[in-house]
Amino acid sequence: MSDSVTLPRPDDWHLHLRDGAMLEAVLPHTARHFARAIVMPNLVPPVVTGAQAAAYRERILAALPEGMAFEPLMTLYLTEATDPDDVAAAHASGLVKAVKLYPAGATTNSASGVKDFDRVRGVLERMAEIGLPLCTHGEVVDASVDIFDREAVFIDRVLDPIRRATPGLRVVMEHITTANAVDYARAQGDDLGATITTHHLIINRNHILAGGIRPHYYCLPVAKREEHRLALRAAATSGEARFFLGTDSAPHTDANKLLPCGCAGCFTAPNTMAILAQVFDEEGALDRLEAFASRNGPAFYRLPVNTEPMTLSRGAPYAAPAQVDTADGAVTVFDPGFPLTWRVD
Ligand code: NCD
Ligand code: ZN
Repeated sequence: MSDSVTLPRPDDWHLHLRDGAMLEAVLPHTARHFARAIVMPNLVPPVVTGAQAAAYRERILAALPEGMAFEPLMTLYLTEATDPDDVAAAHASGLVKAVKLYPAGATTNSASGVKDFDRVRGVLERMAEIGLPLCTHGEVVDASVDIFDREAVFIDRVLDPIRRATPGLRVVMEHITTANAVDYARAQGDDLGATITTHHLIINRNHILAGGIRPHYYCLPVAKREEHRLALRAAATSGEARFFLGTDSAPHTDANKLLPCGCAGCFTAPNTMAILAQVFDEEGALDRLEAFASRNGPAFYRLPVNTEPMTLSRGAPYAAPAQVDTADGAVTVFDPGFPLTWRVD
């Protein structure tokens, strides 16, 4: 068993940085370990236009502490009013690396998302032409569909029809949570990628609900049965090019999590790499952490792999800080439920 592993500096292909005081507090935790991140556009109001993405990028760079290097890869929030020309211009300038599809009402700040997929056909066709990826929050919002089935139903009812109707569209299935999604992804060509979060490799739905309700484990898509967690672990540690890391680190203050109707999201930025090293070590796949965290994502997004190295090593068990303080209140860091033994050097 190896006690250390060195990889090219990783990237996070799905991240929520928020804005204002929260942005300032959480950004250093990502920038400490990750060279780049695909930054989600679900602010209030959402980042819809190229101009809004440019302004948000400036706010992120302004919040970056001196001496830290980090490149935010910007995304646009797809609405039924999105202008294909604006999307194409934002892509051509190098500013925008993906467009994000939220079915309206699917998750945090998704009210401006898509209800009628026919209304975004023109944008999707343009994206297929120019090779700009569509990142999908893959859940239907139909109240008659059980929340644990919403991802599998999305694949059949929305994702597969969109892909068939838009040949050449490059799609990322974001934060997949089911064996159904793993199987679907494996059966497609290289125009389809899938991100997997850290927390979905650790928790199943019992962790949220058995023996008391644990709001800090509640996120969307919600964690599923154990068999799905195991399928995700197998996919993430397989080294297969279509699977890569998107932490979906989604900070909310404890005040907003610990409510009768609390927010969805797990905040994993500070301890993601340590947890991942532990998972890959347990699976006998430390040599494939590099594919998952550092190589497969850039390959899909047609960007260079980072040249700077990161080394992780195993040592005495330790507990990561439980909370990060922000001017808006404390944010609880995801607790994997076991002491960490790996750390970033
Ligand atoms: C995300 C958030 O809080 O913005 N929440 C989550 O549970 N993952 C939104 C999302 O990615 O669904
Ligand atoms: Zn997310």
